[in-house]
Amino acid sequence: MLPSVMDYRAQARKRLPRLAFDYLDGGAEDGASLRRNVAAFGALEFVPEVLADVTDCQLQTTVLGAAAAMPAIVGPTGLNGLFWPDADVHLARAAHRAGLPFVLSTASTSLLEEVRAAGAGELWLQLYVQRDRRIAEHLMDRAWSSGYTALFLTVDVPVHGNRDHDKRNGFQLPLRPSGRLLLDLAAHPGWCWRMLRGGGPQLKNLAVSSNARENITEQASALSRQMDLALTWDDIDWLRRRWRGRIVIKGIQTLADARRAKARGVDGIVLSNHGGRQLECAPCPLEVLPEVAAELGQSLDVLVDGGVRRGSDIAKAAALGARAVLLGRAPLYGLAGRGPGGAGEVLAILRAELENTLRLLGRTRIGALDATAVRRRRAIFD
Ligand code: FNR
Repeated sequence: MLPSVMDYRAQARKRLPRLAFDYLDGGAEDGASLRRNVAAFGALEFVPEVLADVTDCQLQTTVLGAAAAMPAIVGPTGLNGLFWPDADVHLARAAHRAGLPFVLSTASTSLLEEVRAAGAGELWLQLYVQRDRRIAEHLMDRAWSSGYTALFLTVDVPVHGNRDHDKRNGFQLPLRPSGRLLLDLAAHPGWCWRMLRGGGPQLKNLAVSSNARENITEQASALSRQMDLALTWDDIDWLRRRWRGRIVIKGIQTLADARRAKARGVDGIVLSNHGGRQLECAPCPLEVLPEVAAELGQSLDVLVDGGVRRGSDIAKAAALGARAVLLGRAPLYGLAGRGPGGAGEVLAILRAELENTLRLLGRTRIGALDATAVRRRRAIFD
């Protein structure tokens, strides 16, 4: 086991070709949203209480009514097969062994049925709605009959974010072979071998749902071209009619939109700027969290994501009112850096760090963390 999530990131950087690592790690345009997501955690300091009996330490909670061993969920990420064959199956297993729910992306590279067959933990489906609504309807039907109990509608991707690194690396869709790309691949024979052995990643769920295309780049390109740009709040009613389980809107960025979500009667929201991968200079979710949680936290589950790299980050988000955080890149660093075991190791590290933070803070229950446990760092040295 490596010491920290960022050590797994360094390992992932070595093992992946640049085009895959930058796709995993990078943000939109100049990376301002991405950097701020991470920096926002560093701008907070804890307010510890000493000489509190910290013998017992309880991290468990509930999210959308489901048990979670700590206030964290393995969030949806697409094209995971670029990092390891059968990545979604491995990630779901790691989440379930850690006692955490797992959200499968619409752009997953494993069938949702395969992921279900891999374990008995809590599974939720993330939905991208394409113009042909039958694709989403088919996905929802399959997910419900496979025991997926919540739907995360992602609303911050009407169009794909502008990612310079993907263009620079030739990760444009469709993929265009270049000298640079071939050199990159030649420098990572282990990755190439794994991809060849696994038959290359496919957006399997969409292929089944839409009877679509041949290779992953064409499929991903089609997914992004065919996104329903006309999706509005009224479509939440369509989802309600089609989906019997819980509904969460992922990608809320302001209090005003959080209020709209509540008015539509959803079960939860994820404050998120898609890990800084979509709108550049978007609001930082952690900064929006306190006002949203204060006003709406009693009516629905307020989740947050972006920039969680330490267990102490989870404690800070919980203190500011988040029911849980979504983990995006962190488990992927584990998987890409050290294979299937690495994803579980990252989750174990985050858990151990969270427990350590709680004890050092003098708190013994995650539910007892509130805004008195953190404050903005004073800027006396700035
Ligand atoms: C994502 N994210 C994402 N979100 C979503 O709703 N559907 C998806 O298919 C994807 N795909 C995806 C791929 C990759 C490689 C990353 C890194 C992220 C966004 C993800 O769910 C989450 O919002 C962010 O990743 C959270 O930020 P951190 O934890 O990565 O900093």
